[in-house]
Amino acid sequence: MKILSALAFALIAAPLHAAPFDKGDPKIGKSLHDKSCTSCHVSMFGGDGSKIYSRADRKSKTPQQLAARISGCNANTGAGWFPEEEAHVGAYLNQQYYKFK
Ligand code: HEC
Repeated sequence: MKILSALAFALIAAPLHAAPFDKGDPKIGKSLHDKSCTSCHVSMFGGDGSKIYSRADRKSKTPQQLAARISGCNANTGAGWFPEEEAHVGAYLNQQYYKFK
């Protein structure tokens, strides 16, 4: 009985563990990102600035940390994004660089 209820729980709980940022659209995220988010990262890391996301010692180790960093940089830079827009950018950065499941 215990096993059965654990199984039932796993089935019910599964949708709660959908991929992070699955509400965002990476295409919209990319254009938002490319407009507001590259200047500093490029001056820090050169190239197209994407090394800030792909370097070995990057700071964001979990989807939550990534989301928090996006919020932080959004606020710092005055991009003025709504939570949906942060989610689009999260979807883009996750698909392209972070690959959190
Ligand atoms: C005013 C300069 C500046 C701008 C503009 C900027 N950032 Fe950042 N960003 C930083 C700094 C500084 C860090 C921290 C670097 C470090 O910790 O080594 C950072 C780090 C990050 C990281 C974490 C990288 C990691 O290590 O995992 C993410 C994600 C990020 N920024 C997203 C954004 C987004 C999204 C925008 C556009 C709203 C943006 N940034 C615009 C300065 C900026």
